[in-house]
Amino acid sequence: MHTPVILAIESSCDDTSAAVMAGGEILANVVATQQVHEQYGGVVPELASRAHQQHLIPVVQEALRRAKVQKSDLDAIAFTQGPGLLGSLLVGGMFAKTFALALGKPLIAVNHMRAHILAHFIRDPKPAFPFLCLTVSGGHTQLVIVRSALDMQIIGQTIDDAAGEAFDKTAKLLGLPYPGGPHLDRQARQGNSTRFPFPVGAMPGYDFSFSGLKTSVLYFLRQQSAADQDFIKNNLADLCASIQYTIIQTLLRQLQRAAADHGLTQVALAGGVAANSGLREALQNLAAEKGWQVFIPDFEFCTDNAAMVAMAGHFQYEVGDFATQFVSPDPRLKL
Ligand code: KG4
Ligand code: ZN
Repeated sequence: MHTPVILAIESSCDDTSAAVMAGGEILANVVATQQVHEQYGGVVPELASRAHQQHLIPVVQEALRRAKVQKSDLDAIAFTQGPGLLGSLLVGGMFAKTFALALGKPLIAVNHMRAHILAHFIRDPKPAFPFLCLTVSGGHTQLVIVRSALDMQIIGQTIDDAAGEAFDKTAKLLGLPYPGGPHLDRQARQGNSTRFPFPVGAMPGYDFSFSGLKTSVLYFLRQQSAADQDFIKNNLADLCASIQYTIIQTLLRQLQRAAADHGLTQVALAGGVAANSGLREALQNLAAEKGWQVFIPDFEFCTDNAAMVAMAGHFQYEVGDFATQFVSPDPRLKL
């Protein structure tokens, strides 16, 4: 059988990425991260679009060079159609359409959230179907039953902030740089996670809520800082550990319930927050207790990257799921 060579483009948020895949094997995955947003404490959509415009072609050229693949070797162009920031998606989508048109090759429109899940198929060990996937990123928190590479169902999701947002917003209250998740993680390793009890957002079914945590941390810090202006500084590690513990408990409680109700014993983690060391450890411990098998992709494939888009593109190529030149970005594309 012919091995399809796919070029994939990811530009949904603030990372510009291109990857080359041949027959399901990743040959190159190049990511240009945008530094420009740091000074604003969050992603500025207009600046993200401009940076994608600057980075995209060099990133594609570098991916082709590293993969030792010529433009003429490509069989299809895959790109992220959504969800994401409209301006960012437009840059990647427009490039992909133009490139596919110029080369006379088919176009594959990929759903970013499906791609996060399919990142599990880039490297061994790979989960077997069906499995339960918890996707936790800066923009999304979803609990998904994955029946096949093309058949997925959301059974729970956040009704307000995403888990990554909960990390980033509480980290900001503590004066940590953006994005705060990794900084909070690092501090938490030295801290006592039961020192400051924060409320765990209790939701029916398998949904999540994180906005209450942010508010309670805000009021707590205000109150304590009024009595002791160095309160945050003197208790930083314990504050980080306590906040992280609360987020992890919120995530794992619903995950555990969903796995039990659906009789699933293979549990996967996806998205940037899967890098959190506390979450990884707590999930491994829970898995040992429950007899689950746990899957967490390499960090490179957890945060936004085009390799996962190529993987999704590969599965879509196999069934001939191609897009026309009339395809347009969809910032709210559903799973
Ligand atoms: O998947 P991702 O790279 O981008 C989105 O699609 O959102 O996820 C980024 C999110 C940010 O909120 C970042 O703070 C969080 O992942 N993150 C972490 C850690 N590393 C990244 N959160 C907690 N602990 C970490 N170690
Ligand atoms: Zn993402």
